[in-house]
Amino acid sequence: MEPRRKILMVAPEMAPFVKVGGLGDVVGALSKALDARGHDVRIVMPKYAGLCHVDSARPRNRPLRVRLGGHELYARLWDCELPGSGANCYLLEFNQYYEHAAVYVGPSGNEEHNGQRFAFLCRAAVDLCYYLDWIPDVVHCHDWATGLTPIYLNTTELNQPMGRAASLMTLHNMHHQGWFHRDLVDFAGLPPSVFRSDCLESMGEVNMLKGGVYHSTKINTVSPTHAREIQEPEGGGGLHHVLRYRAADLLGVINGVDGSEWNPATDALLPATYSANDLNGKALCKAQMQQTYGLEVNADIPVFAVISRLAEQKGLDLLAAIGDRLMASMKIQIAVLGIGDPELESAFRVLAARHPGRFGTHIGFNNKLAHLTEAGADFFLMPSRFEPCGLNQMYSMIYGTPPIVRATGGLIDSVEQYIEGQGAGTGFVFQDATPDALYYTIGWACSTYYDRPEEYAKLQQNGMQRDFSWDASASTYEDLYSWAVDARNAAFASKIS
Ligand code: GLC
Repeated sequence: MEPRRKILMVAPEMAPFVKVGGLGDVVGALSKALDARGHDVRIVMPKYAGLCHVDSARPRNRPLRVRLGGHELYARLWDCELPGSGANCYLLEFNQYYEHAAVYVGPSGNEEHNGQRFAFLCRAAVDLCYYLDWIPDVVHCHDWATGLTPIYLNTTELNQPMGRAASLMTLHNMHHQGWFHRDLVDFAGLPPSVFRSDCLESMGEVNMLKGGVYHSTKINTVSPTHAREIQEPEGGGGLHHVLRYRAADLLGVINGVDGSEWNPATDALLPATYSANDLNGKALCKAQMQQTYGLEVNADIPVFAVISRLAEQKGLDLLAAIGDRLMASMKIQIAVLGIGDPELESAFRVLAARHPGRFGTHIGFNNKLAHLTEAGADFFLMPSRFEPCGLNQMYSMIYGTPPIVRATGGLIDSVEQYIEGQGAGTGFVFQDATPDALYYTIGWACSTYYDRPEEYAKLQQNGMQRDFSWDASASTYEDLYSWAVDARNAAFASKIS
C-alpha cells in the first residue's frame, strides 16, 4: 500500500482550465488519477484571463505574499476544484503578469517578460505552502516555466520547512527551455552562486530548465525511450551534459489517456459511439467526417488523418512534400486538422484546393472535430521528428484508427509494428524522417487496407484492446515520489550526522 502523499503540482497550464499542449492534459489527468488513488493533490497555476470551468472559484480575503529578490508582491488567491476530482487548485491572480489569455505570451505581447512571469509562479508556489501551513512531501514541477522552484528548495529554503520537500521535474518538451537575461537571478531572489555553467547559466544567460534539472531531487520524462534520447546531443537540446550528470536520478514514464474524455463507447462528442465488439458507429463517424472536411463521402476509400500543431517537431513538412505524389498514385483521402507554422498552413490549404474531395484541410483547433477525426479516420499520421510521448497516437489506437508513426520517443514505446501475414501489431512504424519513408509507409498501410482487410481489422482490434489508462502510469509516479522522498530524507539525515 502506497503512503498517502501530499503533492503540490506547479504548472503553467492545466486542462480543462487552459491548454496549449499535451503538458496541460497530463497535469490535469495525472492530478485526477492521483486524487482518485487517495493522495492529497493540490495544484498551483496562474489565473490567466478567460480560464474555462472556473465559475465556482472563490477568492480568498488574505492576499498571498510572494517574496522575490528585494521586493514583495501580493497576489490574490482563488480556490477551486479540478473538475471530476477533489483536488484543490490555487489560482494566482496577478494582473501585471496574467491579465491576458495567452499562457506563454506576456501582456506586452511577446515572450520578453516570461522570465519574471514564471519566476513569480515558481516563488509563489513556495510561499503558498507557508500561507496554507501545508508542507508537501513532493513538489512536482512541469517544464521550464517551473524550473526555479527546485532551486528555491535547495537554496533560500534549505533551512526552512519547505527545504524538506522533495522535488520532481517532469520534462515534457526540451525544445523550450526558458532563456532570459541574467538579471533574472536577482529579480527572483536567488543567490548569485546558482548562476553557474553546470546549473542555471547557459552561454551567459539564465536557462530555467537547466537550473531545474540540476536541482530537482528526481527527474523524469514522458517515455522510457525519450529518457535515453535526451542524454544524447541530438535529443538533449543542449542539455545532454546535465542530463547525463543526473542520469542516475532520471526515469521515463509514459503518459496515460484520460478515459473519461477519450473512449469511443461513451464519447458524447461523436455522432455515434462504438466499441471493439461493434464498429458500426465508426462508419457513421467516417461519413460525417468526410462531409465536414469536404471529402467525397465514400465508406470504401481509406482516410488518413492528422491532428497536430503544425510545427517542425511534428514532421508534417514531410507530408506536405509528398501530398501531390500520394494523390496521384493512391486511392486515399487525407484530412489535416491543425494550426501553427504559416508556411505549412498554406501548403495544406493549397493541397486541399488542388485536390477537391480528396484532400481536406481545417486550419484551427477544434476539440469536437478532433474527436470526430480520431473516430472517423482509418489511419492516423504522426511522422514526428521527435516526440517525448505523444497522446494522439494512443487516442487513435483506442478509437480503432491504426497510427503511422516515426520511430522516436514515446511513439516507439506505444505503437507496435504491424507484422504482415500475421495481423500482429497496432500500427506502422518507419525509421527515417524523409518524405520517401513516409510515402512508402502510407503505401504499405494503403495496400493492407485494400488487400488484407482481415489483417487491417485485426490491427484495429489490437489497438482498441490496449490499456492506455492513467492507472498504470499513476502508480509509477507513486514510486517516483517515494524514490524522491527517500532521497530527500537521506540527504537531510547525512547532513545532520
Ligand atoms: C509535449 C510533448 C508530447 C507529450 C506532451 C505531454 O507536448 O511534445 O510528446 O505527449 O508534452 O507530456
